[in-house]
Amino acid sequence: MVKKYSIKELLDEGITVVNKKVLVKGWIRSFRSSIFIVLNDGSTIKNLQVVLSQELKKKNHKKITIGTSIQVIGTVTESIGKKQCIELHASDINVYGFVDSSVLQQSILQPKKHSFKKLREQAHLRFRTNIFSCIMRIRHHIAFCIHQYFHEHGFFYVHTPIITTSNCEGSGKMFQITTMDLKKNPVDYTKDFFQCKTYLSVSGQLEAETAIFGLGKVYTFGPVFRAENSNTSRHLSEFWMIEPEIAFYDLEENINLAEDFLKFIIKYILDKNMEDLSFLNEHFKKYKKNETEHLLERLNIVLKSPFKRISYTEAVKILIKEEKKQNMKFFHPIVWGMDLQSEHEQYLVNKYFKIPVVVFDYPSSIKAFYMRINNDGKTVRAMDLLFPDIGEIIGGSQREERYEILLQRIKDTNTDKNKLWWYLDTRRFGSVPHSGFGLGFDRLVQFITGMNNIRDVIPFPRTPNHAEF
Ligand code: 4AD
Ligand code: MG
Repeated sequence: MVKKYSIKELLDEGITVVNKKVLVKGWIRSFRSSIFIVLNDGSTIKNLQVVLSQELKKKNHKKITIGTSIQVIGTVTESIGKKQCIELHASDINVYGFVDSSVLQQSILQPKKHSFKKLREQAHLRFRTNIFSCIMRIRHHIAFCIHQYFHEHGFFYVHTPIITTSNCEGSGKMFQITTMDLKKNPVDYTKDFFQCKTYLSVSGQLEAETAIFGLGKVYTFGPVFRAENSNTSRHLSEFWMIEPEIAFYDLEENINLAEDFLKFIIKYILDKNMEDLSFLNEHFKKYKKNETEHLLERLNIVLKSPFKRISYTEAVKILIKEEKKQNMKFFHPIVWGMDLQSEHEQYLVNKYFKIPVVVFDYPSSIKAFYMRINNDGKTVRAMDLLFPDIGEIIGGSQREERYEILLQRIKDTNTDKNKLWWYLDTRRFGSVPHSGFGLGFDRLVQFITGMNNIRDVIPFPRTPNHAEF
């Protein structure tokens, strides 16, 4: 029996498998001189060079093109080429599927430079490109090490519902779900599937909070949905969020956790994904020539610097002072009480501190109802963690654990308390101080891979006007 290898396994074995007869399967990346096939199977960014025997060359392999899927049996030999240390001398080839030559011309499989926009339009084919397969492998490893981090730190993974009746964040629109015939006017939602109006969840936080009262430390990792009309390079309508929630944690412990967690992930990827990261690093060196720092440098800066921590009030003071000092004007004038805009966040991170920044104690008027109110009565124990280029990557807070105050905040923010009776109940059955945060998974993948647009780090992006595939 001939042993079956993935290309990664085979290349990892290197010269120790020379002279061995092996079987590999994959897709053709290039075919030169009717002899040399470059084969990739997705297991690694690297390709395997396959050399056809004279006999195989004579056989009719004319229909073989880029993209054709094949099985090869052959003998491993040491390679004289510089690119790889081994190659495969084929003795037998089987074709699984040819490529329709009439579609190949317009497809992104054609080996030339395609724009990211074009790759997105053929999202079903872009897994086969070097750059997108790199990003997808890194995305996988980030997800994997997130579970590892929490598991090793005593957190339990809880699955919170995707279908919900409440809006955790209060602000922004939700996608409604129904099985009703909406042409009937007026629609009676008591006759709907759940006998009430339901939506796709914007966050699993409220349900995760109930879990800490029995499990102590939990986290969620799932898709969330937001129907905001935000057409930016950092917004998706469907994205993935990780939300840890911890009993007996105050805001400072929460920020410490967020910093340690992010550094763990970046270190893990630098340790385990260097092949893919190096490919992206070289790619950007070529195409983002005007950038001063390259991908690996940027990751290392974040890894090595202690994150800067400042209050919202201090941040506002710095921004006002800088406007005067640098003689410039922000598009959105700075006033205490406003939500910081992307230009302000970017100024603090990219220009002023040049490292990640945590801004805490925001005005209560711009934050959600569940955040713990400070003694000044004006600010809440919120924190936003800002990253270079990305801006807000994490949003979190210490939660309001005092029943009466929470109830008042729910009223003040016009939140429907009847839908949150179960959430309020947690504050009546042995309430405790607790905290948590939400990490935007796709924004983190964007930062680690250095991609400009969040739509290029998720397989099938959902954004306003776009739900194809
Ligand atoms: O700041 P947000 O809205 O916080 C929450 O949802 C809280 N319930 C989290 C918590 O305390 N458990 O969202 C958290 C993060 C943001 O910092 C951002 O990284 C990401 O989710 N995010 C988005 N990512 C992609 N597309 C969007 N439209 C996003 N909106 C938020
Ligand atoms: Mg936020």
